[in-house]
Amino acid sequence: MKVRVGVVGVGHRGMSFVHALAKMEDVTLVALADLHPQRLQLAAQEFDVDRQFTHLSEMLDSVKLDAVLILTPDLAHHPQTLKSLAAGVHVLVEKPPAYTVAETQEMAAAAEKAGKHLMVAWNRIFALRRVKELFAQEPPKLVLVNFVRPNPAYLALIRNHAVDVLHFICGEPADIVAQGEMFNEQQEGHVLASIRFRNGILGQLTSSFGTGGHSEQFTAYGNGYTVFIESTSRGQGRIMRGGQEMEVLGPVDSTALQIRHFIDCIKDDKAPLTSGREAVRIMRLMWSIMDAAGIGMPPLPDDGRGWLLWCTCGARVIPNLEMCPQCGQEWAGWSIPIESVRKI
Ligand SMILES: NC(=O)c1ccc[n+]([C@@H]2O[C@H](COP(=O)([O-])OP(=O)(O)OC[C@H]3O[C@@H](n4cnc5c(N)ncnc54)[C@H](O)[C@@H]3O)[C@@H](O)[C@H]2O)c1
Repeated sequence: MKVRVGVVGVGHRGMSFVHALAKMEDVTLVALADLHPQRLQLAAQEFDVDRQFTHLSEMLDSVKLDAVLILTPDLAHHPQTLKSLAAGVHVLVEKPPAYTVAETQEMAAAAEKAGKHLMVAWNRIFALRRVKELFAQEPPKLVLVNFVRPNPAYLALIRNHAVDVLHFICGEPADIVAQGEMFNEQQEGHVLASIRFRNGILGQLTSSFGTGGHSEQFTAYGNGYTVFIESTSRGQGRIMRGGQEMEVLGPVDSTALQIRHFIDCIKDDKAPLTSGREAVRIMRLMWSIMDAAGIGMPPLPDDGRGWLLWCTCGARVIPNLEMCPQCGQEWAGWSIPIESVRKI
């Protein structure tokens, strides 16, 4: 069986998904959609995709699909997921699924009602499957996760990759103590949380935005092992026991692994690791940490522009520019008005 896939959003993230999809023999990339005409055309030419659309709704109305990959900016995820599920297709949506627990619950319920699989693209967990396996019999005692980026960010904890990783290894929380600090009225700076999980694991989370660094490390201690992961994005690291290095973990492509998982879940009709229901649990943990840290939902920027992304080179978020003045990287997401992003 070949799974017929459509992709909406062929920007920075969308292109890496399309590259991975193009290598899968059991997937046919049937259609692409993006607001940005040149981007759409370039992607369609490179991957030889005939059907191109500006909006997701046109794609769903015109082409028969098994699944849609939603790789648009955050604010589009909730409405586009609901639309796709109502059209009867499986959905893989980029993280975060939404900004609130209630919206995520709505998405999970819509998937159940439609009888379709919903998966959220928290890809880091696919780089940590060996770690999960190592602690399958007995959980670690202590887990430390950090996520650090150069610039402040809107709802940084909800949008980053620390909590999903923590939840994957540690499960459900029992008790949370946290402190947090906003960078300014709309953007987060730092969150520090200590969490006692129901299975006894002690977790420590550091989310730090706006001081120039770049890191996403993971460390676990317990069951006779110490695990050091240098980057949760690729999973490279080492497992130690008795002072000796037991195993070296090489880098993996967590994006390709998660797409493989999604396609397998469709073919085998099994729930994805980061299903809609699991996404609700992860979002609940995020909001519990935010609440404990005294950080609520900051107001959306009122300049009407989609400035919620920041440049990977470390330059400050600069609204309404099509390229980063520091490194020249083009990034249309910066300059799309929020009402256009939300348009389905
Ligand atoms: N997992 C990860 O490591 C990771 C890394 C980066 C980004 N992301 C997530 O991926 C998502 C996309 O980020 P990006 O960096 O690719 O952004 P981007 O701006 O590079 O790409 C988004 C694309 O979506 C298109 N678009 C926007 N609104 C649309 C709409 N309503 N209909 C059709 N097309 C629309 C834009 O024209 C653009 O081409 C974000 O939600 C972000 O959080 C995840």
